[in-house]
Amino acid sequence: MTLTIGPIRLDNPVILAPMAGVSDAPFRRLARRFGAGLTVSEMIASKAMVRAHAKTLRMSSPLDLEGPQAVQIVGCEADVMADAARMNADRGASIIDINMGCPAKKIIRGEAGAALMKDELLAGRIMEAVVRAVDVPVTVKMRLGWDEGCINAPRLAKIAEESGVAMVTVHGRTRAQFYGGQADYARIGEVKRAVAIPVIANGDVTSLDKAREILDRSGADGVMIGRGAYGRPWFPGLAAHFLATGEKKEEPDAAGRLAVLLEHVDDMLDHYGESAGVPIARKHIAWYSKGLPGSAEFRSQLMRLGEAKQVRERLLDFWRQASDRLAA
Ligand SMILES: Cc1cc2nc3c(=O)[nH]c(=O)nc-3n(C[C@H](O)[C@H](O)[C@H](O)COP(=O)(O)O)c2cc1C
Repeated sequence: MTLTIGPIRLDNPVILAPMAGVSDAPFRRLARRFGAGLTVSEMIASKAMVRAHAKTLRMSSPLDLEGPQAVQIVGCEADVMADAARMNADRGASIIDINMGCPAKKIIRGEAGAALMKDELLAGRIMEAVVRAVDVPVTVKMRLGWDEGCINAPRLAKIAEESGVAMVTVHGRTRAQFYGGQADYARIGEVKRAVAIPVIANGDVTSLDKAREILDRSGADGVMIGRGAYGRPWFPGLAAHFLATGEKKEEPDAAGRLAVLLEHVDDMLDHYGESAGVPIARKHIAWYSKGLPGSAEFRSQLMRLGEAKQVRERLLDFWRQASDRLAA
């Protein structure tokens, strides 16, 4: 099973979701190496991008992963979104993704993210402007609609297709649901049937069986994985392997997880520097440690450590003890 987005052919149809504060370059690099077919950057504020805000530029970079990489932009002004798209394409993005699904109040107040689902005219204008601005494929990520009274993803996907968008991803919840309840895979299927461009299904895929289920129930062309990859950058790759072969490969054992984690921590500290990197590294370390004996206490100790050296020492200590307890 492969996936083609405009002229770009992916190795497999499993995509790491854009997640602000999570899907940064170090995480995307690992997910890609472990076999994700595509990764998408954290959402990049189009206005800040156009103003060449340093932190924003760092979020969209470095675009040095092997293979195609998508950069997601968020905003509500067609000309600014077009400029931001152009800047990202010039910096090496192979796909530009438009955020039409973010439910956060801060984004909605700016009339962006999922708020665009309520204004199909503006959404259409933005999609057309972005498609016109760049030579690379443009994709859109949306929810099912604003709320139960406004389920318009099939219609908006049709507008996207008519605007020249190459693929849509649908998170099977409404904006009103935020992250509550369960993603509705059957309703993603309604989007799939409405358009001829590829449709990617997203929501709650945390296991290999769920990856199969979301595709079977939606008929979608691929799957996007977000929170299921927390502390498991290998998971999208394992899902891709399972979907292609039916084989359920084992996740890495404690020692294997530690090796990946240490590399991940180094990369985060390199990317952000120590003071910004430590809090981000602690968050990821906490996820990797889930399920190991004593991990709850470890996590609360971890959050009190401010220096990279302390974090590394405590991490190695904890892993040694946890591995001993597992072996006993
Ligand atoms: C911490 C976090 C940050 C997110 N940031 C973004 C974002 O920047 N852009 C976006 O389109 N979706 C964002 N999302 C939504 C995810 O991409 C995804 O649609 C959602 O989490 C459902 O998929 P999942 O159940 O596999 O996590 C975010 C989700 C989380 C949990």
